[in-house]
Amino acid sequence: MSCFRPDVLAGRVALVTGGGTGIGFEIARCLGEHGAKVAIASRRREVIDAAARALESEGIACLGLTCDVREPAQVEAVVAGVLERWGRLDVVVNNAAGNFPAPMSGISYNGFKAVVGIDLLGTYNVSKAAYHAWLAAHGGCIVNISAPFDHQGVALQAHVAAAKMGVDALTRTQAVEWGPKGIRANAVAPGPIADTEGMARVSAALGGEARGARPPTPVGRLGTGRDVANAVLWLASDAASFVSGQVFSVCGASSVDGLKIALPD
Ligand code: NAP
Ligand code: COA
Repeated sequence: MSCFRPDVLAGRVALVTGGGTGIGFEIARCLGEHGAKVAIASRRREVIDAAARALESEGIACLGLTCDVREPAQVEAVVAGVLERWGRLDVVVNNAAGNFPAPMSGISYNGFKAVVGIDLLGTYNVSKAAYHAWLAAHGGCIVNISAPFDHQGVALQAHVAAAKMGVDALTRTQAVEWGPKGIRANAVAPGPIADTEGMARVSAALGGEARGARPPTPVGRLGTGRDVANAVLWLASDAASFVSGQVFSVCGASSVDGLKIALPD
C-alpha cells in the first residue's frame, strides 16, 4: 500500500533509463502505479521487452525502447519515440549506469571511460535530448540517480565515484540554468539496495557481507528499490514543486556513519 495518492502523476509521461532491471524497474513501476505512462530504455532488447510486458500486466502503460545512453543519436531517437507515442515527456529519470569494483590502478583506460561514459555522459546526453525536444518549451522534472560518495574516498569505485560526483554537479547546473524554463532537477543517491546488480557486484568484491556482524546500515536494514522509487516519486510530484538542485541520499544513514561500529545495546 503506497502512502501517495494513486493519481499523483496522472496525465504525466516518464522516461526511465535502465528501467528494465533493478532500481530502475522499481522506479518505473512506482511512477506507473501513481498514474504516469512510463517509457523504459536500455541496451538489451530482450530485457526491456520482458520488463515492459511485466509492467503492462500490472496495468501500467509502458513503452520499451532500446539505446546506449553513450550514443547521442540513439538517445535522441528514444526521446522522439516517447513523444511520438504519448505526445509529452514530463519526468526524466537518469538511472542507467555501469559499475565493476576494481582498484584504481587496475581499471583499464577503457574501463574507466566506459563507466564515466554511461553514468555521467549518459546523464548529460539524455537530459540534453529531452531538454531540446520537450522540456525547454514545456517544463518538467529531471531526477538523476547518483551515489552518496561525496565526502569519502571509496575504494574500488574510482570510476563510479568520479562519475556520480559529476552527476551531482550536473544536477545543480541543470537546476540553475533550466529552472527559468520550468524545469526542476534533483538527484537521488541510493545507499546499499538489496537484490540489485549494483549491490551484488560490490558485495562479491568484498567477499560477501560488506559490514560483517554489524547491521547493514544504521537504520538496521538494506534499502529496497521501492525506498529509492518513493523518493523519485516525491521529487516528480507537485509536492516538490519548490525543490530543485538538491541531492538526496536514500541510504539508511550509511553515508553519515563515520565510525561504522556496532553499538552496544
Ligand atoms: P542494474 O540493475 O544493473 O541497472 C543498470 C541499468 O542500466 C540496466 O538496466 C542496464 O541495462 C542499464 N544500462 C547499463 N549501461 C547502459 C547503457 N550504456 N545504455 C543504456 N542503458 C544502460 O543496477 P542497479 O543496482 O539497479 O543500479 C541502478 C542505479 O542505482 C544506478 O544508477 C546505480 O549507480 C545506482 N546505485 C545503485 C546502488 C545499489 O545498491 N544497487 C547504490 C548506489 C547507486 P542494459 O544492460 O540492458 O543496458
Ligand atoms: N573488471 C575490470 N574491467 C572490466 C570489468 C571488470 N569486471 N568489466 C568490464 N571491464 C572493462 C573491459 O575490460 C573494457 O575495457 P578494455 O577494453 O580495456 O578491456 C571496458 O570495461 C568496457 O567493457 P565492455 O565489456 O566493452 O562493455 P561496456 O562498455 O558495455 O561496459 C560495463 C560497461 C563495464 C560497466 C559493464 O559492467 C556493464 O555493462 N554494466 C551494466 C550493469 C551494471 O554495471 N550494473 C550495476 C550498476 S550500479
